[in-house]
Amino acid sequence: MKIIVTGGAGFIGSNFIYYELKNYSDEIICLDKLTYAGNLETLADAFKNPNFKFIRADISDRKAIYKIFADEKPDVVINFAAESHVDRSIEDPELFLRTNIIGTSVLLDACKKFGIKRFHQVSTDEVYGDLPLDRPDLFFTEQTNLHTSSPYSASKASADLLVQAYQRTYKIPATISRCSNNYGAYHFPEKLIPLMIINALHDKKLPVYGTGENVRDWLYVEDHCAAIDLIVRRGKIGEVYNIGGHNERKNLDVVKTILKILGKSEDLIEFVTDRKGHDKRYAIDPTKIKNELGWTPQTNFDDGIKKTVTWYLENRAWWEKIISGEYKDYYAKMYDNR
Ligand code: NAD
Ligand code: TYD
Repeated sequence: MKIIVTGGAGFIGSNFIYYELKNYSDEIICLDKLTYAGNLETLADAFKNPNFKFIRADISDRKAIYKIFADEKPDVVINFAAESHVDRSIEDPELFLRTNIIGTSVLLDACKKFGIKRFHQVSTDEVYGDLPLDRPDLFFTEQTNLHTSSPYSASKASADLLVQAYQRTYKIPATISRCSNNYGAYHFPEKLIPLMIINALHDKKLPVYGTGENVRDWLYVEDHCAAIDLIVRRGKIGEVYNIGGHNERKNLDVVKTILKILGKSEDLIEFVTDRKGHDKRYAIDPTKIKNELGWTPQTNFDDGIKKTVTWYLENRAWWEKIISGEYKDYYAKMYDNR
């Protein structure tokens, strides 16, 4: 089988490529534009595998995508490629619309034109909006209405609707997964967990938005990869699967846990101006994927966060290179005088 993994030079896509290369002998093509978030060094070990190939392309470039489909004739396309950071989407929504919506529609058109055995869209629980903090009994199910808050989540929800429309109208054999916040190796330093680990290691302030009461449902990235693999190989066409489950933490508690693991003082915490439209709580009900495909998360947050901190300690060269480049300007723009 030949599988195109779009966005495979990013955080989750690269972990997924390693998962597939370890467990199967399928041909894997990573198709990635290499934006600020894409990093070929992340794929250094994959390049040693003869089943792996990399193609640089933008998913919203119709001509380039059609040529790749014509040349490669993939059996499966898994779309991880996206602009993925909520704060950047608040600063500049347009690129999110181009990549996340137009890019997905171009991939779907290519699937329609050239034929495909399976198209899988990697989506997010953020398409469901948020849950109130005082209702811990509420969870997102696959039936929860789409109700987005940020330009990022609006663009991901739009892409989901297109996938469902193409599935129904053109019979594209598609599935969608909506997962909670991932963490683990190769997570780009702009996101909460790596940002806090790296700042703490430099004894720099840890910028917690608002009061730090917001809740996220943390999913160890390898558990996410296992779930996507199951959906692609055994999931039912036309279905949506929620991935996550019962690893909810307040942001402030996540930050305190990281400080404790690193033996740093909580005095490093600094409460800063809240994110605009900040979603309060995300929480997944994973009953469907558990019942239909037998998936449950294997890594609880306490173990996963220790493994993640260890990874950042052991892979300094990977993130030091990132934070010494254009990321410096991003950090200054987003956090100086916040
Ligand atoms: P990431 O930002 O780390 O990586 C995105 C990758 O996509 C990068 O390699 C980038 O170069 C590539 N890319 C961006 N625009 C492209 C384009 N136009 N054409 C081709 N490649 C392009 O993101 P991630 O955290 O790995 O997220 C992967 C997917 O999972 C995204 O679709 C995201 O919406 C979804 N998701 C992520 C999380 C999370 O916690 N990280 C949670 C839920 C859903
Ligand atoms: P993030 O990693 O950006 O993921 P998402 O917004 O997709 O959930 O943020 C996770 C949570 O952490 C979110 O509630 C915002 C908060 N946050 C901070 O408090 N400080 C920060 O510097 C960042 C990047 C995020």
